[in-house]
Amino acid sequence: MKILVLGSGAREHAIVKALIRTGTDPSNITCAPGNGGISQEVKTVSLNINDPDAVKAWALDAQSDLVVIGPEAPLVAGVSDALRSAGIAVFGPSKAAAALEGSKAFAKDVMAAADVPTGMARKCTSVSEVEQALEAFGAPYVVKADGLAAGKGVIVTSDKQAALDHANTFLSQGMEILVEEFLDGEEVSLFFLADGITVVPLSPAQDFKRAYDNDEGPNTGGMGAYSPLPWLPEGFVSEVQEGVALPTVRELARQGTPFVGLLYCGLIVTSKGIRVIEFNARFGDPETQVVLRRLLTPLSGLLHKAATGQLAAVLEPEFSKDVAVTVVLASEGYPVTSAPDREITGLEVNDIHVEIAHAATKDLDGKLFTTGGRVLSVVSIAKTFHKARKRAYKAIANIKLEGSHYRTDIALKVDEGKDD
Ligand code: AMP
Ligand code: GLY
Repeated sequence: MKILVLGSGAREHAIVKALIRTGTDPSNITCAPGNGGISQEVKTVSLNINDPDAVKAWALDAQSDLVVIGPEAPLVAGVSDALRSAGIAVFGPSKAAAALEGSKAFAKDVMAAADVPTGMARKCTSVSEVEQALEAFGAPYVVKADGLAAGKGVIVTSDKQAALDHANTFLSQGMEILVEEFLDGEEVSLFFLADGITVVPLSPAQDFKRAYDNDEGPNTGGMGAYSPLPWLPEGFVSEVQEGVALPTVRELARQGTPFVGLLYCGLIVTSKGIRVIEFNARFGDPETQVVLRRLLTPLSGLLHKAATGQLAAVLEPEFSKDVAVTVVLASEGYPVTSAPDREITGLEVNDIHVEIAHAATKDLDGKLFTTGGRVLSVVSIAKTFHKARKRAYKAIANIKLEGSHYRTDIALKVDEGKDD
């Protein structure tokens, strides 16, 4: 099977690695545009992945059997629709179904129609509406921009002025604002493969969204993750499948916008039960690095069956009993300011349990340079979280990149048994 993977992040590198690990021949994988790490493993092509016609022409010419879309931008640009209309199997929802991620208000409407548990929220289009909603829900305040904001659209704060300022920033850009009830509890990311009708769960993971240790600092795209979550109650995955993923996919099908691809359920386990905080229409980054690191079932078959409406015939994917931890290395100033391109060294790893998923790297005459943002994810696997943490942190400590930073407490609580 010839597979084209779209994207250039650590998520896409993890997808490529998982395809290879579970049996796909690297010569059958192409990644567009890829990055400095991906290009060391498979062929990469320079392609504008947000241009539906360009992607379609390339995939037709290369006779791709499957296109896997990593990031949200090509989904929103309608790349899946163009590929599907050309008869190419594509793992990634249509532009219309991807609105589940792009519009938080649309997601709330779908959840209301499908009776999916989520936090109470109010849509606001003016500062005075925001003020009233903040007053109604009380502190801590949760304010979300209703649109793609690269992980920076959400603020959770007890500072009312900061909540108002955040709302103002996005209102002045013409976006709607959602003020939400604060949900207290552990966060879980649970991915489902969806073929429009059937959903198949992967293994739960936890993401660390804040920039600094002890969940301090601004929200980011994600600074680390681990999987599985041993502290989850028995039956958690089936409960989310029956109560969240299936009703959502059924409601989207009923509306004529079937969801084919990865349904990312962002959940909070509150004292009153499971609540959805967000949906994404794609694999999460960095959760994918740990979830797919543990996958034993061939990934190409799973993605192809999802893309071609055949998930009903799929048994639940198998995962290793080993645990996986990933720690993200971010460039100086992330997520607030961007850093100049800099050389990065120390990426050689001589432990088979550790691998590096590249994100913002590029190869220049045999030297690796970083291009800002989240630079890479170190991913490790072990029998215990203690060992997996040790392996990941040993590898990341060897990496040299001026001004870079990473969290030192990824999977610390679960290692110490404090999440039970
Ligand atoms: P989102 O982009 O909606 O996933 O929000 C980013 C992060 O903000 C989440 O991962 C949570 O840590 C936090 N968050 C979002 N909504 C809520 C909420 N209603 N209550 C508490 N924390 C939230
Ligand atoms: N790690 C969160 C996300 O991918 O949206």
